[in-house]
Amino acid sequence: MQQDGDGDRINIAIDGPAGAGKSTVARKVAEQLGYVYIDTGAMYRAVTLSAIRASIAPEDGERLAAHATTLEIGLKPGEQGQKVYLNGENVTSEIRSREVTLLVSPVAANETVREVLGTLQRGFAESKGVVMDGRDIGSHVLPNAELKIFLTASVEERARRRYNEIADSQSITLEQLAVEIAERDRLDEGRDIAPLVCAKDALVMDSTAMTIDEVVEAIVKLSRTKLAEAK
Ligand code: CDP
Repeated sequence: MQQDGDGDRINIAIDGPAGAGKSTVARKVAEQLGYVYIDTGAMYRAVTLSAIRASIAPEDGERLAAHATTLEIGLKPGEQGQKVYLNGENVTSEIRSREVTLLVSPVAANETVREVLGTLQRGFAESKGVVMDGRDIGSHVLPNAELKIFLTASVEERARRRYNEIADSQSITLEQLAVEIAERDRLDEGRDIAPLVCAKDALVMDSTAMTIDEVVEAIVKLSRTKLAEAK
């Protein structure tokens, strides 16, 4: 079905491992294009927070699946970036805790959790004009996205960036963070359903030696080309 805006808006998928700069880049690209930014990792984090509160272990697949189908996950654009709601409660800060970070990959490996969130994500993208970041957006959630970017960087650089973001609030060493990020990459790449993978038609960008603004500029440029092609 043709929606308002089809033809003059596209969908942009930005996938890649933790700490590659996806969320900052995706938010800025969305700002520049006047698009909506959707952080799908935040949705997996919200389900994980809820499972922790309900004392459901990720290994308890059946309970986790049943729990996920009862949740209402909401995203709202805010001045400080996107706000995340779990059954109406603002959980934007809480979903960034180390406890959630350590459990999110096993929770995200659950098939029902992925189905529930994937359906929501496709709904957000229906009328085009979204920049969606995650692990499986170009490969699975939005296989027809007009522009797909696979954003990566060395694990050392990714750990360093994340360390600078969270060192004040969470007591963790750079070395420990690098180990945890590498382990999350391993789990995300190795799961059976919709693993972290570079889609065939995605453009790989290695941001190790690039600033955020350079990456944003490159993606905005590419999106203008794709937009011209889509017309
Ligand atoms: O921000 P960070 O890079 O730490 O990760 P995130 O984007 O918040 O995603 C947290 C976790 O959610 C990932 O490590 C994946 O396990 C999972 N995830 C996923 O499986 N599929 C997505 N589309 C997005 C996130």
